[in-house]
Amino acid sequence: MTEEVARAARLLREGRLVAFPTETVYGLGADAASAAAVARLYAAKRRPIDHPVIVHFADAEGAFAWAREVPQAARTLAAKFWPGPLTLILKRSPKAGDFVTGGQDTVGLRVPSHPVAQALLRAFGGAIAAPSANRFGEVSATTAAHVREDLAAEADLVLEGGDSDIGIESTIVDLSGGKAVLLRPGHIGAAELEAALGEKLAAKPADAPRHSGGLERHYAPRTPAQLVAPHELDAEIGRWHAEGSEVAVLAFSRPDERVDFWLRMPKEPVAYAQKLYAALRELDSAGCARILIETPPAEDSWAAVRDRLRRAAA
Ligand code: TXA
Ligand code: MG
Repeated sequence: MTEEVARAARLLREGRLVAFPTETVYGLGADAASAAAVARLYAAKRRPIDHPVIVHFADAEGAFAWAREVPQAARTLAAKFWPGPLTLILKRSPKAGDFVTGGQDTVGLRVPSHPVAQALLRAFGGAIAAPSANRFGEVSATTAAHVREDLAAEADLVLEGGDSDIGIESTIVDLSGGKAVLLRPGHIGAAELEAALGEKLAAKPADAPRHSGGLERHYAPRTPAQLVAPHELDAEIGRWHAEGSEVAVLAFSRPDERVDFWLRMPKEPVAYAQKLYAALRELDSAGCARILIETPPAEDSWAAVRDRLRRAAA
């Protein structure tokens, strides 16, 4: 264990806040068993108190101790995808206080695979409540530098762990009712989950548990952003230029028109997701009037990326 990780575990025990890398995005962590530490976390993120937070564990055994019922489907998904980018919503056990569940009867559980997250969880020895390490509603952080830009004053320590491998938040599956429901798409897709479960996922009900990723505008840059179909991109750029406005463009190939600032994205969804948040931050800092995002393909493999882009542009 490195010095830094030992220091981070000590800070968590003192009720302080530690930002740490995971394979999805960076998290801002607090002792999940301490109401005071979690209150500090919500204040730091300026997060509404009724939004539940995901609780992180070193292994499935630790995670399931926070649930009062562990259905077979949860064991199946945990065996296949943990440690990894999957969060399971289960009925909470008494260990999960109202301050992590937003007062709901369920709790979000995740076992991350990033070696620094694993080392921290083991050194700390308990559960770590951690939302993404960004300001509430804004673009998530996939590098330690981005965490410092957003939360330098709030995090007592930022652990370095390189660029996040996956780049978008974990897939969330709700197993607290009779059926498996996909609440947030992610790197682990619906087809993979259905193959593991041997059944179809149920559609998200209208009264699905509150989750902040479910807010329409989320993962959003400060510059207004809009999605544009590939064949309309050049015309849209022209329209903004005609109004005297500069635009920043996220596209799959170089736009025809002379644009002020543009970034090329990979034509493959896994690589696209990995670069997405850093790209949105870069486009945001270009100081243009508008961000134009070329709409990705309609295929299932792009579902998680489309979800984040739709919210960034809402
Ligand atoms: O990849 C991730 O999941 C990252 C890393 C740090 O682990 N964390 C993350 O946390 O994305 P956050 O707080 O930004 O998003 C957590 C999502 C929210 O949409 C929250 O409402 C939902 O999980 N959630 C947590 N507990 C829940 C519950 N009991 N029922 C429904 N949704 C829940
Ligand atoms: Mg978040």
